[in-house]
Amino acid sequence: MASAFVGKASQGPARSCMLAWRVHKFGPPEAMVLESVPRPDPGPGEVLVDVHAAGVGPWDGWIRAGKSALPQPLPLTLGSDLSGTVAAVGSGISEMAIGDQVFGVTNAQFLGAYAEYAVASAGMLAKKPGSLSYAEAASVPVVAVTAWQGLFDHARLEAGQTVVIHGAAGNVGAYAVQLARRARLRSIATAGTKDIQYVRSLGADTVLDYHTQRFEDEVKDVDAVLDLVGGETQMRSFQVLRPGGKLISAVSQPDQHRAKYHGVTAAFFLVEVTTERLRTIAELIDRGELKSCVGAVLPLTEAREAHMMLEGRLIPPKGKIVLNIETAGEGVETAAAAVRAGLPAAPVRKGS
Ligand SMILES: NC(=O)c1ccc[n+]([C@@H]2O[C@H](COP(=O)([O-])OP(=O)(O)OC[C@H]3O[C@@H](n4cnc5c(N)ncnc54)[C@H](OP(=O)(O)O)[C@@H]3O)[C@@H](O)[C@H]2O)c1
Repeated sequence: MASAFVGKASQGPARSCMLAWRVHKFGPPEAMVLESVPRPDPGPGEVLVDVHAAGVGPWDGWIRAGKSALPQPLPLTLGSDLSGTVAAVGSGISEMAIGDQVFGVTNAQFLGAYAEYAVASAGMLAKKPGSLSYAEAASVPVVAVTAWQGLFDHARLEAGQTVVIHGAAGNVGAYAVQLARRARLRSIATAGTKDIQYVRSLGADTVLDYHTQRFEDEVKDVDAVLDLVGGETQMRSFQVLRPGGKLISAVSQPDQHRAKYHGVTAAFFLVEVTTERLRTIAELIDRGELKSCVGAVLPLTEAREAHMMLEGRLIPPKGKIVLNIETAGEGVETAAAAVRAGLPAAPVRKGS
């Protein structure tokens, strides 16, 4: 498919290869390989993004390990959340042009963003919030839209209603607490001891310490539970709902027998990132009504370390892990040369 293409001014002629983190065989972070691969071309309805930053999330770890709910063909390039500039447009694109600053997700397979360039579906991108750096913008899409959809599309909560948010100190939870406050919901959040003050600062009405308190002893008859933890926490959540209440999980499919027994509805959902939802989130961010939280910014060459953080093998930060990607700097050229020579790549650092 033919596409218009422009390289960075400082880059000279368009390069045909790029660095990308690939998986040829599912496994631990050691299964990730930084390779020089052909730069992809955008197809109809797609754009090529000159990636400035890519977000790292738990779902990237599941894809790498072969444990994703979505079937993933091998070999694959990891990564879905991204920010950057449009470098080329495929056919049928009228609302985006070369040079636009964008953020969003690559595609419904959640693949392709840990690379210098990524093809993304235009319907999963929007204009980058002007108030955010590229690194901050790449931290937003999946987690913020998940929080939005959980509260408003799936739990269908309205002002004055009460929601329990499990995992409120996490990346999705932090957005859910802020969005709940803005929508004038009453929120009861669960978090660990170290995070109680943080979650209060995000605007939760009540924060329960999951280490020392059993939420089902403190709460009852709520309109909805947003489950960002799963397992036993999800199972115990049925008893805090009012009849007709909703248990909405972003983690796993809730037990339907239990739901029937308690007279509630219970559902798992997969996030659907769209331009419209991203625009809504971007507006809230630019108006100062929603804050992003970046915990660690690593160079592209340290994506493996980022996955070790996901697994707790390295100390995980509070907030999103983001990969910072230099597309025109000497760092990547050096890393690319090392990769071509079969040597370990040196860290690539850039400002966002
Ligand atoms: N379905 C979808 O489309 C979708 C989209 C995005 C995310 N997700 C999933 O949603 C979940 C949350 O994602 P995330 O990015 O927010 O993860 P995260 O940043 O790792 O946050 C998880 C939070 O849950 C807390 N937590 C652990 N056990 C808890 C408990 N028993 N009670 C209350 N809080 C507890 C953790 O605190 P500690 O530090 O104390 O452990 C942490 O703050 C993940 O499973 C993720 O894969 C699904």
